[in-house]
Amino acid sequence: MKTILVTGGAGYIGSHTCVRLLESGYDVIIMDSLANSHSLVMDRLAAITGREPLFVETDLRDTEILNGVFAHIPIDAVIHFCGLKAVGESVARPLDYYEVNVGSTLALCRAMQEHGVRDLVFSSSATVYGAAEEMPIPETAPLGEVTNPYGRTKLMIEQIFSDLHASSPDWNLVMLRYFNPVGAHPCGLIGEDPLDTPNNLFPYITQVAAGRLPELSVYGGDYPTPDGTGVRDYIHVMDLAEGHLRALEHLDAKPGFDVFNLGTGRGCSVLEAVRTFEAVNGVPVPHRITARRPGDVAVCYADAGKARQVLGWEARLGIEDMVRDAWNWQCGNPNGYRGVMVPMDWRKVEMEVEQRR
Ligand SMILES: NC(=O)c1ccc[n+]([C@@H]2O[C@H](COP(=O)([O-])OP(=O)(O)OC[C@H]3O[C@@H](n4cnc5c(N)ncnc54)[C@H](O)[C@@H]3O)[C@@H](O)[C@H]2O)c1
Repeated sequence: MKTILVTGGAGYIGSHTCVRLLESGYDVIIMDSLANSHSLVMDRLAAITGREPLFVETDLRDTEILNGVFAHIPIDAVIHFCGLKAVGESVARPLDYYEVNVGSTLALCRAMQEHGVRDLVFSSSATVYGAAEEMPIPETAPLGEVTNPYGRTKLMIEQIFSDLHASSPDWNLVMLRYFNPVGAHPCGLIGEDPLDTPNNLFPYITQVAAGRLPELSVYGGDYPTPDGTGVRDYIHVMDLAEGHLRALEHLDAKPGFDVFNLGTGRGCSVLEAVRTFEAVNGVPVPHRITARRPGDVAVCYADAGKARQVLGWEARLGIEDMVRDAWNWQCGNPNGYRGVMVPMDWRKVEMEVEQRR
């Protein structure tokens, strides 16, 4: 069975994808700095799948460690999740975003080139479409008008991969443009765990429902949409994880450079998400309509037809599953991974006491 290097595999989407990889028999190596994640994820992956990934805690830009991994482990393919992802933060700290997102990708490409690994799946984003005029958005929609450094790193990285393939067609590269990943593994052991106040709607909703935040601000109630609030294409993270397995198979079946949208193809408004959450989970989500947020578009959803036709993949889970699983994760882990007490190893304590005597 194949060995997959998963960069950023301790993170939200990476950890859910690792579950599916391990369950499907792949061997998994995770490289992650834990800049936005927690080592407890490894125990959770083992608890869910009965198999353990190999974990290397490192910044991907540490080329000595990166080359060491490629030199010592026969890697068949890479899934590259690692990166910083907060749009607002990227406006305040552009250099960090270019250094981490672009820098880690360049380091990875160099190491892959040196060690003869040519197959990679990349976490891109619907943000590369900017304010798209065509709805639903096909992969052929024009790219460009991206308004923040985070989005520009995604565009740049896609361009780097495209140039790499043009320079040497033995590179097999799939760009996956995610729409709005939400939800959690249904067992509630892994999920989205923002370090600070969440930037995304779903963790915000769950934290308001749990009483950790007072209320949800719904940015804009006067958009040209059925209920006036913004419409997005929310996709369950387990569906997204499955998309990565299909992309890996595609690398074998049809080598080359390719791009796929991963979304449901269905728009859901902010109020629809809030009301579904309340109805499915029986918990109120206090919310208030406020002014529009600069840079937000009214409507954004995917044309998911290419992934269906070429990868044989489509989203199976609906908004009810997303709100149920997001709440299940929140209830089981009120403070995310950080609130979890690691069980005390009393035997180790006894040994230490003994040694000091
Ligand atoms: N979550 C979304 O809404 C969304 C949407 C579109 C695209 N994406 C992209 O998908 C990928 C995964 O997103 P996520 O939501 O799982 O984010 P995440 O922050 O949970 O995961 C990213 C992981 O990368 C790690 N990391 C960051 N910098 C690193 C470095 N220099 N070296 C090694 N590890 C590093 C973090 O510790 C984290 O575990 C990202 O590239 C993100 O831009 C996410």
